[in-house]
Amino acid sequence: MDSTDRPEIEIRGLHKAFGDNQVLRGIDLDIARGEVVCVIGPSGSGKSTLLRCVNLLEEPTAGQVFVGGTEVTDLDVDIDAVRRRIGMVFQQFNLFPHVSVTENLTLPQRRVLGRGKEQAAEVARRNLERVGLSDKAGAYPSQLSGGQQQRVAIARALSMGPEVMLFDEPTSALDPELVGDVLSVMRQLAAEGMTMMVVTHEMSFAREVADRVVFMDGGVIVEEGPAEQVVGDPQQPRTRDFLMRILDPAAAEPPHGAEPPGPAKEL
Ligand SMILES: Nc1ncnc2c1ncn2[C@@H]1O[C@H](COP(=O)(O)OP(=O)(O)OP(=O)(O)O)[C@@H](O)[C@H]1O
Ligand SMILES: [Mg+2]
Repeated sequence: MDSTDRPEIEIRGLHKAFGDNQVLRGIDLDIARGEVVCVIGPSGSGKSTLLRCVNLLEEPTAGQVFVGGTEVTDLDVDIDAVRRRIGMVFQQFNLFPHVSVTENLTLPQRRVLGRGKEQAAEVARRNLERVGLSDKAGAYPSQLSGGQQQRVAIARALSMGPEVMLFDEPTSALDPELVGDVLSVMRQLAAEGMTMMVVTHEMSFAREVADRVVFMDGGVIVEEGPAEQVVGDPQQPRTRDFLMRILDPAAAEPPHGAEPPGPAKEL
């Protein structure tokens, strides 16, 4: 199918239920090639489920998802082929603990893509350089900081040559001083033209990097638009409430005073 004039990701009438729990209740969203879309919203609103439906880690109850013009929700689709085109980075880095950083990058290439040892190593080398970790090639994950492990996880995903990258709160498990390096790598990826869907509570990143911000609540998209509009001048009361809590947790709390404002990412 000719995919050149279609959005890179198309989500149509997506529903997902877990038993009686209707988690996604009709999501429609297009993401153009090279576009960066940040998805924000309260805990339990369905953000992770939405990402997981895009690469079929969850099977939608109804609706369609197309990636690069291919319907991934088609029952006859080659799921492995679809997943090869979609890189995913999770809050927990999910590195293999018992092998080196380089092997974390080469093993999936060899197993899934059938690349030879030399080629896989060369791709790994290039992607470690991309995330600024060339000097950690021989280290084990346990010898790295959380931020470095997350950058390895990004390099691992990139080594598979994905067309799109999905990020699910990639900095939420990190100490605040380690967040910046991971966001820099993501900023650079965006600048290089990668299509990205990013669930995040990092509002400054969303404002600076996202072409569009989508606010979800209760399994629907409540509001979407350019970052400066949705984050800077939200129209919907639910969006305003959420942002107020994220951007200024203290202001949204009843005034019992003693509690310091927690980091927004924990909300
Ligand atoms: N595998 C599952 N089985 C059953 N219920 C699930 C499963 N995954 C998610 N849910 C439910 O779906 C709802 C939405 O979960 P989801 O993880 O998508 O929310 P979220 O917006 O990512 O929240 P958070 O900000 O806390 O990560 C929750 O009620 C959750 O309990
Ligand atoms: Mg989540």
